[in-house]
Amino acid sequence: MSRPAVASSFPATVALVLAVVQLITMLIPAAIVVEARTKPIPAEPSQLDEWIAHNMREYRQRKAKETGAKALDRRLAKAEDCARLITVKQDGQGNFSTITQAIESIPSGNSERVVVWIGGGTYREKITIDSSKPFVTLYGQTGKMPVISYDGTASEFGTVESATVAVESDYFVAVNVAFVNSAPMPDAGRTGGQAVAMRISGDKAAFHHCQFIGFQDTLCDDRGRHFFKDCYIEGTVDFIFGNGKSLYLKTVINSVAEGTGVITAQARENSTDESGFTFAYCNITGTGNTYLGRAWKERTRVVFAYTYMGTLINTQGWSDKMQGTEPRKSMYYGEYKCKGPGADSTGRAHYTRILTDDEAKAFLSMTYIHGNKWVLPPPRLSLLPVSSQCHG
Ligand SMILES: *[C@@H]1O[C@H](CO)[C@@H](O)[C@H](O)[C@H]1NC(C)=O
Ligand SMILES: *[C@@H]1O[C@H](CO)[C@@H](O)[C@H](O)[C@H]1NC(C)=O
Ligand SMILES: *[C@@H]1O[C@H](CO)[C@@H](O)[C@H](O)[C@H]1NC(C)=O
Repeated sequence: MSRPAVASSFPATVALVLAVVQLITMLIPAAIVVEARTKPIPAEPSQLDEWIAHNMREYRQRKAKETGAKALDRRLAKAEDCARLITVKQDGQGNFSTITQAIESIPSGNSERVVVWIGGGTYREKITIDSSKPFVTLYGQTGKMPVISYDGTASEFGTVESATVAVESDYFVAVNVAFVNSAPMPDAGRTGGQAVAMRISGDKAAFHHCQFIGFQDTLCDDRGRHFFKDCYIEGTVDFIFGNGKSLYLKTVINSVAEGTGVITAQARENSTDESGFTFAYCNITGTGNTYLGRAWKERTRVVFAYTYMGTLINTQGWSDKMQGTEPRKSMYYGEYKCKGPGADSTGRAHYTRILTDDEAKAFLSMTYIHGNKWVLPPPRLSLLPVSSQCHG
């Protein structure tokens, strides 16, 4: 193609007008993007609920008002329009008696939100939701949080495949569900004891009021953009790990380490990789001599903001290496306005960044995970039909 030749055949004034039009069309989307950029998480705790309400509005409200850059992903909006409910009850009174059967009932290529309501009880199942089944919601009975528990380990399945529940599809949601790996705590004499409770490998997933329970490698935040709110995550070593890009809000992080503990092992490898974990308004409790993170990969990136850190946190805060690796040099370990005895920065490793307001901003809004395009509050079950309103 020889575009310059065509352009040069225009009179100069036409070329100028075209250039101006082009400039304007370039500027307009930029202006919209800036406008759609969401406000940072407030530094004032009393304003947090308002921030949440603003950033997690119901689909029905949003649908009526929002268009263009502010609107939800179109595919998601279509799926929410066609949402339906199926139920799992252990007593046989629901549509299914196991979660596995409920997931199997969802067709490959699914394009509608399917809310799987799960009654209280412990479900001994090992579940994979493959990438052909987006828009699945697991919703636990209110007041009787269902527990999905299995005991897969790295020695049996490999670490990543040991997960009790593995989700490979996009737009997954879980509300009020406990994900447990019940394999015993690994000890020094035994290898391959890593045991994942949940692996999230799909993009645009949200977890509300969920629990993740295990020891080493509890939560595999594998890849994609994820939102966690009001959750509880328990483990010993690397118990939040992977290459996801995630925002953890108001989440309790409980170390049950007996010796050295490590909360995160984030797997960002290079500077073009956008992944990283942000924790805001979390509460770190528990036991052990626990590090905030260690450097699984060269450019591991983790930020803790407005987070309470108990005495369990090692004064250095962070580690620049895994067992048997050379120390890394390009980690991004940030802390911003944290509180509690574990947040004292005087003994911190020299590579720790105590972030300025400007540095912190990029990590502290829904824009970090493009959440304003897909994060919704938990669905209101009373509004969901038992069959799709979109077909048949
Ligand atoms: C689930 O159960 C409800 C109530 O019995 C029923 O109306 C609905 O058709 C069932 N759905 C499926 C997918 O079996
Ligand atoms: C950077 O990391 C990402 C994610 O792991 C990978 O897909 C990509 O190939 C890497 N790019 C380079 C230049 O190494
Ligand atoms: C953090 O959790 C501990 C243990 O549950 C609790 O005692 C403490 O009040 C919490 N701190 C904050 C700041 O929420």
